[in-house]
Amino acid sequence: MKRIAILASGGDAPGMNACVRAVVRAGSHRGLDTFGVKDGYEGLLHNQFVSLHRHDVSNIIQHGGVFLGSLRCDDFFSPEGRAQGAAALRSFNIDGLVAIGGDGTLCGARALHEEHGIAVMLVPGTIDNDVPGTDWSIGFDTAVNTAVEAIDKLRDTAEAMEKVFFVEVMGRESGALALHAGLSSGADAILVPELPMDIDELAEVLNRAILRRSRSLIVVVAEGRAAGGAFALADRIRPQIKLECRVTVLGHIQRGGVPSARDRLLASRLGICAVKALAEGKTGHVVGEIDGDIQVTAFADLTEEKKSAPLALLDLLPDLF
Ligand code: F6P
Repeated sequence: MKRIAILASGGDAPGMNACVRAVVRAGSHRGLDTFGVKDGYEGLLHNQFVSLHRHDVSNIIQHGGVFLGSLRCDDFFSPEGRAQGAAALRSFNIDGLVAIGGDGTLCGARALHEEHGIAVMLVPGTIDNDVPGTDWSIGFDTAVNTAVEAIDKLRDTAEAMEKVFFVEVMGRESGALALHAGLSSGADAILVPELPMDIDELAEVLNRAILRRSRSLIVVVAEGRAAGGAFALADRIRPQIKLECRVTVLGHIQRGGVPSARDRLLASRLGICAVKALAEGKTGHVVGEIDGDIQVTAFADLTEEKKSAPLALLDLLPDLF
């Protein structure tokens, strides 16, 4: 193993820079030449390699986003696109690739490994926390804290002015962020894409709280839950609710910002482990934190394509209501 490359692909997540830094420095520590690929799989298709040395990744651990760029790449979903990507890695004599990203990035990494024999380590980085092979993905902790901070602010004004806020958080297909942010901010109801929603039942829960003299209510709605999002949901339920209903969409604010200490540490641990695994000759694995330990899981041993959200957290709501 002489040359490794690193890329980030798909939705960026806070802490990805910390991971790139760890990979470059762990590579340099082992005498490896390390290259960054600009703009993820998209850049790979266009041979966008840049040489990275330890000083190139100074003072990035504290920044959100990812300085390499992290585009979504539709071409990589086709066998031809992946063949082109594998050829680019070979022509640049790259012996191992570290790919940071979510389930789409995992899909591409698996295909590079299984179809073309490329040695790839997938480091989970997504605010959705839905990558299998890890308990936590880089960026999730920061995104949860960003959402909680915003919801706390909404609660202040809601309480002062007697309102119901429908707060839309990200997660088109995963309710993990909604569940963690909702429970941590004392939300009165949490709607996730994985479970059906009964609008009359929701209205009854909210009205029960109003009768109990709650001045403010917070409903956290995952982006993928209601067709038309939180605005459509609020429009449907408004006639049944005795307080004024307002909507706030947190949107991409949750993807940016200063990564939490926890995400920086996770990113550093995962990045170093990915380089070590490649140096030891491992070829197609997810690098994750499982029960507090950093572990690698072979792609072939993953039991699911997407990690499911911790829906059992919803069972806590009645006790907290
Ligand atoms: O995958 C991360 C994520 O932030 C999801 O939560 C969200 O549904 C999606 O990306 C949004 O993607 P885009 O920025 O491409 O609209």
